Formats: sequence, C-alpha cells, structure tokens
Amino acid sequence: MSLLKEIQKRKTFGIISHPDAGKTTLTEKLLLFGGAINVAGAVKNNKITKTATSDFMEIEKQRGISVATSVMAFDYKDKLVNILDTPGHRDFAEDTFRTLTAVDSVILVIDCVKGVEAQTRRLMEVCRMRNTPVIVFINKLDRDGRDPFDLLDELEEELSISVRPLSWPINMGRDFKGVYLLHNKTLNIFEASKTKKAKDYTSIDDLSDSRLDDLVGKKNADQLREDVELIEGVYEPFDQNLYKEGLLAPVFFGSAVNNFGVQELLDTFIEIAPSPLPRQTDVRKVEPTEPKFSGFIFKIHANLDPKHRDRIAFLRVCSGAFHRNKFYHQVRLDKDMRFSNPYNFLAQSKNVIESAYPGDVIGLYDTGNFKIGDTLTEGEEMTYKGIPSFSPEIFKEVINLDPMKSKQLEKGIDQLTDEGVAQLFRQNPGNRKYIGVVGELQFEVIQYRLEHEYGATCRFEALQFHKACWMTGEASKIDDFCQYRPKEIVIDKDGNRVYLASSPYVLQMARSNNPEVTFHETSEFKV
Ligand code: G4P
Repeated sequence: MSLLKEIQKRKTFGIISHPDAGKTTLTEKLLLFGGAINVAGAVKNNKITKTATSDFMEIEKQRGISVATSVMAFDYKDKLVNILDTPGHRDFAEDTFRTLTAVDSVILVIDCVKGVEAQTRRLMEVCRMRNTPVIVFINKLDRDGRDPFDLLDELEEELSISVRPLSWPINMGRDFKGVYLLHNKTLNIFEASKTKKAKDYTSIDDLSDSRLDDLVGKKNADQLREDVELIEGVYEPFDQNLYKEGLLAPVFFGSAVNNFGVQELLDTFIEIAPSPLPRQTDVRKVEPTEPKFSGFIFKIHANLDPKHRDRIAFLRVCSGAFHRNKFYHQVRLDKDMRFSNPYNFLAQSKNVIESAYPGDVIGLYDTGNFKIGDTLTEGEEMTYKGIPSFSPEIFKEVINLDPMKSKQLEKGIDQLTDEGVAQLFRQNPGNRKYIGVVGELQFEVIQYRLEHEYGATCRFEALQFHKACWMTGEASKIDDFCQYRPKEIVIDKDGNRVYLASSPYVLQMARSNNPEVTFHETSEFKV
C-alpha cells in the first residue's frame, strides 16, 4: 500500500474526561463496536484509584495495566483506529498532556449529571492550545442529568469552543427514551443493555410523523419537536472545516455503559476525524506524506521488573515509514540507533512490527537513551515541538539520606525526570535539587522507585513555591530580574532559567514590575 493510503487509513485520537465520567467504559465500548474485543469487561480499568496513595504496590500494579492499555489499535470500516489512553488521575495530568501532543483529535466525555469539571477544563485548555479537533460525548443519560441546553451552554462558555449537537436526547434518567440523530434524521430507541450491540434505528425524516408519538409517547415527541426547532434555529449547521480547525465540537448524547449512542459516535468519528496531520519542528513543518521517516517520543515507561532497568519509549510516527532494524538519527544525542524489536499494540496484545506509518504509536525498548520530546529522523537535524512542561504545583527539595549513595540518587532522579515522572530544577549556584510535581502521589512514586530501582534513599522537604515560570524578553532585563533573586531562580533540565514564584501575589507583582519580561507557566511558548 502506498504511504498516502497508509496515512489516510489512520485515525489517532485520545479520549479525555474528568475521572469517573466514563472514559474507560467508552474506550471499552469503542473496542467492542470496533470488533477488537468480544466481551465487555475485557479492558481493565486502568484508573489509579483515588484511595491508592498509601498502597504503593497497588499503584505499581495499576501502572502495569496502564502500559498494557496505553495504545489500543483496531480496524473499523477500512480505517485503522489508534486510541491513545490518557490517565484520568489528576496527579498524572502531565502524562495526559503529553499524550495529547501525539493525537490528531480527541473525544471528550462529559457526565450529564456533573457537566464540565475541573479536569475537563484543564485538558481542554491543552486541546485549545493546539487546535485539536474535539467531539463531545455526553454520557450517563440513563441518569437524571442536567438540562441538555444548559450543558451545551456550559460547554461553550467554560471550554471556549462552539458546539453543535448531532444527536438529541429524548428525556433522561428513568424516562430516557433514546436519541434523535439530527444529521441523518434517525431515531435510536434506548434499551438498557450491557451486552447488546446492534440497535434498531428508525428513520424519521419528518418529525411530525405520528410514528414518533407511538415510539416515544406524545409528550416526549412534542418536546423533541420543540427542542429540534430550537436547535435548528440557534445552532449553525455542522461545519466539518470548523471542527478540523478545533473551533467547533459536534456533540453526541448516550450511555456508554449501556452501549447506547456509541455506534453513531464511532461512525461519525470515522467519517470526520482527521487523518495524521502535519507537525511543527523547531525548523519547519513536517508533512506526514514526506518519504523520510521522523517521529518523537511522548511517553517513557519504566519496566516493572526491577531486575531489568530498561524502559519502553513510546514513539509517534510523524512522517514517512519506520522500519525495523534500520538506523535512525537520535537528534539530541547526535547518535544513530536501530531497533530490533519495535512493537505495536493491538487491543490487548503486543506484536513486533516490521514497519509503522504516520499516526502509529510504537514501543521501543530503551536503555536510557531517550528523554521525553526526543526526535528520531533519517538524519535531518530537527526537533518536534509541542511537548511542553507545565508549571508544577507542588515543590519539594530532595534530601539525600545516604551520602554513600549520592551517585545512585543523582542517576535515579535524572532518569525518573527524563521519564517525565516529575520536573527537576537545580539551584544555581548551588547544588540543591528541587522536584516539582502536579500531585502528591508522584513523591511517593519517586521515593519508592529510587529505593527499589536505584538503591537510593531520600526524603522530601516542602518548599513554599506556587508556580514555576519560564521567562522570555530582552536578555538584559531577564538578567536584572534574576540578579536579585538567587533563591528563586533555578535551572530546568534543558538549562533554562526558571523563576519560582512563592505566591500568586508575588507573581503578579513580578509581572507588573517587570513589564519587559514575560512569565510563562508552560515551557513551550512562542518566542
Ligand atoms: P473513567 O474512566 O472516566 O474514570 O470512568 P469509568 O468508565 O470507569 O466510569 C465511572 C463509573 O461510571 C463506573 O461505575 C461506570 O460503570 C459508570 N458509567 C459509565 N458509563 C455510564 C453510563 O452510561 N451510565 C451510568 N449510569 N453509569 C456509567 P463504577 O461504579 O465506578 O464502576 P463499575 O463497578 O460499574 O465498573
């Protein structure tokens, strides 16, 4: 098959949601409808449970599950669908943000009872930064949720994106009757079933058709007629170009656990979601159709077996074809490398592959050569952009508890931060190491892994910092600003100076007193 055909065949996306909205359930149902699994329950729930903080082995076990389900690929209607899993747990949000750099579109799951939640907002901010196309699935219609019009208003207001319903619910909760598919004028009658796959769709071209009253009852039918009239009056027709630009999100309603509304979601996804898109490097934009291979590492996962310290680096192919055993250029290390056992993920299994194409995600065994954001090419010196570091929210200093093991500690911290478990900042001058994370859970992960994988023990001492800010502006002004703050200026892993602000007020003051310096809360910004 030609490269172009391979590219057009692929759809690589992520499912995002606030924990508990139904991401795992929907993923499983998509695999079920896509024929990748036969029975519900086959996809393990890879959530890291909220109560797991004190039970580290539980976290390890769950991390194990999450690596197995990191990418799930299946064929559907002549397309190859790659679902990239995103951890739902807030403390692992960085991981999710990075995974979002490797997708071409997302499906956002919203709980109809809860509406837009904290994690939804943050994830959508990342999608909006990259103009990622979004399809919304409003889930749990079998529960008494909020008014659908209110939900749509909330989505538009809180997520700064226009929406356009493509299906519409008929009642909710116990009286949920089904959805009317606005784009193809079809009625999908609800039937609570965790196993039944095929549903009966009834074509109702004209809503005044009396069959509608027979199927859902006169009151519900009238309500639907009224709602649809309002929708057609208020919302513009669905425009696929606006969707592809990340400006307009089509919305579906359903109940994932009941296999309801999933078929139309998947069918629409297959039809409208973009194939692998061009991607920006520090030197130029790379088209997926370019014959030479290139790709970047967006996730690194440590081996769970402490005896083998190798890791799995997840690479997203961006252009050309990747081949097993061929030498590729690791741009950062200026080193040529080849991979004898690259593998892909097909639903539940891992398979060694001979080649991979844009949109694919492959696993590469890594013995410590990779850092998140590393680029592989056929020789060209370029690095993919778009793997930002977000400001951590909790900062602690690492205190070595065993001076004999300082080398091990150094190495462990270095490797764990390469994996993206946390961010490392060094005091300069000085040798103090600060770790910044999004959630407390990571400190536990770091401490445990340092001890078990590197034989180093440490403790953490809390630091009163609020945000890490990367700076741009005139060099002399930045120098002036840094000069008077030796304790708050640190160096990140890439050698950039970073300002650690101790409170929102202090940050605000720094901003207003130094208008020539711009303070960024992510490391990726347009200079
Ligand atoms: P997450 O990955 O987004 O965190 O959510 P997950 O799919 O695990 O779903 C969270 C809970 O919501 C699960 O219940 C799941 O069964 C339920 N759920 C998912 N879709 C629907 C739906 O359409 N309707 C209703 N009523 N519930 C739904 P749980 O009790 O936490 O787990 P489980 O024991 O049911 O697996």
